[in-house]
Amino acid sequence: MLIAFALLVIVIGSVLFHLFAPWWITPLASNWKAMDDTLTITIVITGVFFVVLNLFVVYALWRFRHRAGQRAAYQPENRRLERWLIGVTTVGIAALLAPGLVVYADYVQPPANAMTVEVLGQQWQWRFRMPGASGKLGGVDPRFFSAANPFALDPADPAGQDNILVATNELHLPLGQPVKMLLRSHDVLHDFFVPQFRARMNIVPGQVSSFWFTPTKAGRYEAMCAQLCGVGHPAMRGYVVVESQADYQAWLKQQPSFAALLAPRPPANGAAPNALAVRGQAVAQTKGCVACHTTDGNPGVGPTWKGLFGKTETLKDGSTALVDEAFIRAFIRNPTARGIKGFAPVMPKLDVNDDELDALVAHIKAQAAR
Ligand code: CUA
Repeated sequence: MLIAFALLVIVIGSVLFHLFAPWWITPLASNWKAMDDTLTITIVITGVFFVVLNLFVVYALWRFRHRAGQRAAYQPENRRLERWLIGVTTVGIAALLAPGLVVYADYVQPPANAMTVEVLGQQWQWRFRMPGASGKLGGVDPRFFSAANPFALDPADPAGQDNILVATNELHLPLGQPVKMLLRSHDVLHDFFVPQFRARMNIVPGQVSSFWFTPTKAGRYEAMCAQLCGVGHPAMRGYVVVESQADYQAWLKQQPSFAALLAPRPPANGAAPNALAVRGQAVAQTKGCVACHTTDGNPGVGPTWKGLFGKTETLKDGSTALVDEAFIRAFIRNPTARGIKGFAPVMPKLDVNDDELDALVAHIKAQAAR
């Protein structure tokens, strides 16, 4: 009887919790109301079954409780009952699955007027690419990848020359314009997800996945990675800004084309080291340094890079050392050789080539100058 009572409390409590819980989905900011509708259908169907089945158990526990002199009847086969159960279960499961299939078919078939945006997922950051005036995305091949060409675009492909490359984690989109998203991974499985759009898709290495949506509300929305992709996974965030067509065009003009990035850099007279530092920032993202090192002065797992360059650090053995280029280079190459006092020796040996190391050092150095 106690179990029957406990089940009754659980059923009533669950329904009340659902009705009165403050945690519910965020307001919708895209055309995908159908996603919310399928979610509601799922909750209603599973909710009804949850209540009915548990109340039946409560009833059976009470109605057939033990009483002196009563004997249980055993009935192993009952074709009529089995037909009913199979029938009701089939209808229930079909009703759970069918709406999702209908919505998904729509979700992967963009309208003809959709603009194209490519999302590049990489441990642990987002990048975005858009076709230029030609309307075409240029070919890519992993062998073209470098710190200077993170999209791995084919430099010989004319279609790629005018591609707009967004090297930050913030994508802007015009309000009310359908967008076809193409998703590509540089390394492992990621998942691009903007909760307010109800839109997400896995990014599988070696293939291009896609979906489409129309942003219907201006605003700045957080995009996150929704597949566990390594230690930097929680830091793999970005933003999608939905704004008027005019604001979008103004933003678009500031983004460099591939051809502009390929153009030779100015010689080393103050401009070049900056470009190198910018590249180093990308390397710090790519190699996951940002998971442990901040540039805003807040301590992380490792020392902050703000003001680190030129500082004198105390080492584990009590000696002191000036943090200069040589020190940083040696430390990155062999992080555990000389521990810094106050920090656990957990920094991994990074797989960086000499170019990337130069860029990283320039980036860390740039944090001292501010
Ligand atoms: Cu990318 Cu988690």
